[in-house]
Amino acid sequence: MKKKYKIISVVGARPQFIKLAGLHKAIANENDFEHIIVHSGQHYDYNLSGQFFMELEIPEPHYNIGIGSGHHNIQIAKCIIGVDEILEKENPDLVIVYGDTNTTSAAAIAASKRNIPIAHVEAGLREFDKSIPEEINKLLTDAVTDLFFVPTQTGVDNLANTGVINQVFLTGDISLDLLYDNQKLWNCADLKAKYGVNEGYIFMTCHRAANTDDRANLEQIIEALGELKVPVIFAIHPRTLQKINEYSLQDSLKSENINLIDPPGFWETQSLIKHAQMVITDSGGIIKEAYFHKTPAIIIDKQTEWIETVEEGWNVIAGPSKITILNAVENWNVPEQHSNCLGNGKAGNHIVKEIINYLNVKK
Ligand code: UD1
Repeated sequence: MKKKYKIISVVGARPQFIKLAGLHKAIANENDFEHIIVHSGQHYDYNLSGQFFMELEIPEPHYNIGIGSGHHNIQIAKCIIGVDEILEKENPDLVIVYGDTNTTSAAAIAASKRNIPIAHVEAGLREFDKSIPEEINKLLTDAVTDLFFVPTQTGVDNLANTGVINQVFLTGDISLDLLYDNQKLWNCADLKAKYGVNEGYIFMTCHRAANTDDRANLEQIIEALGELKVPVIFAIHPRTLQKINEYSLQDSLKSENINLIDPPGFWETQSLIKHAQMVITDSGGIIKEAYFHKTPAIIIDKQTEWIETVEEGWNVIAGPSKITILNAVENWNVPEQHSNCLGNGKAGNHIVKEIINYLNVKK
């Protein structure tokens, strides 16, 4: 039977698959929608892509554009062309974009040029630094968005400060829907069996361009790691590994405390975060997930868009500096207060309700 509305989700990178998983469940509960999933192909390794579709039970994408890696302009250009062809063929009622990757801005531009309404999941966030690739994507996407689904009050305020107040919905963070709903977490014994650690370890990730593409920053981070006195499980993104080799920083990783692992799946990552003594990361997703699990996280970036978690004291911004990272590991007092400032795990239902309202009025 023909559905009332056809909507297209465009995703391409790891954090978007997690957001899509949360929203797809809520969309699938509604009879009104035909939901078409488009994968840009920005991430293509099994570790960064396929395993999330399997594990999070996301249907196979209807289309894969296969943009692959390359300069951001090339990725965005290929993605605009690929999405545009699909839009022309499918003529959807709405396009949903997620987060702030090159796939996000490309899909938003393509939809806007065909006058198709755009819903942006994770709208309104800002880091106020245009040297960050994701900041450009945030700005471009919100400039053409019609429905703004915003995870935090700070995001709502950011939009209001630029005059955007209509169709702005404070939903909480969509990634948390999975965590509240469906906790397939590993226990300590499983982690011990796989990694040989008890709870006193640090879980680490690092992939942001500001850290990996700047030799001095990456050297500071990797040297700090080499000096930690507790076991470290370092889930390493392929680009970070390439850069460590390119900059000849491998020696600092020879400490017997460091266990380098391939990027794990969603639930394994959540388990590693939950049972860690502390997390060190530049990933926006892991910053939020650490907050959810009440695990303190040191941010190895100069800023974060998840400012509420820093204000509450669960996250601290150390930047890419060996001294401040080591100092934070040694001297940080973890707070007792935890206000669930990122939402209650019901973002998906809220987003779907507002999309239906919007499309019903428009029809
Ligand atoms: C992208 C997003 C970032 C998001 C991250 C999640 C942008 C600008 N950045 O960063 O916001 O937090 O995804 O991981 O969109 N590579 C592989 N296999 C892959 C994909 C990439 O080896 O499947 C390597 C390639 O060398 C590639 C590099 O990683 O050049 C960077 O990939 P890219 O997609 O450009 O950016 P990410 O760092 O993954």
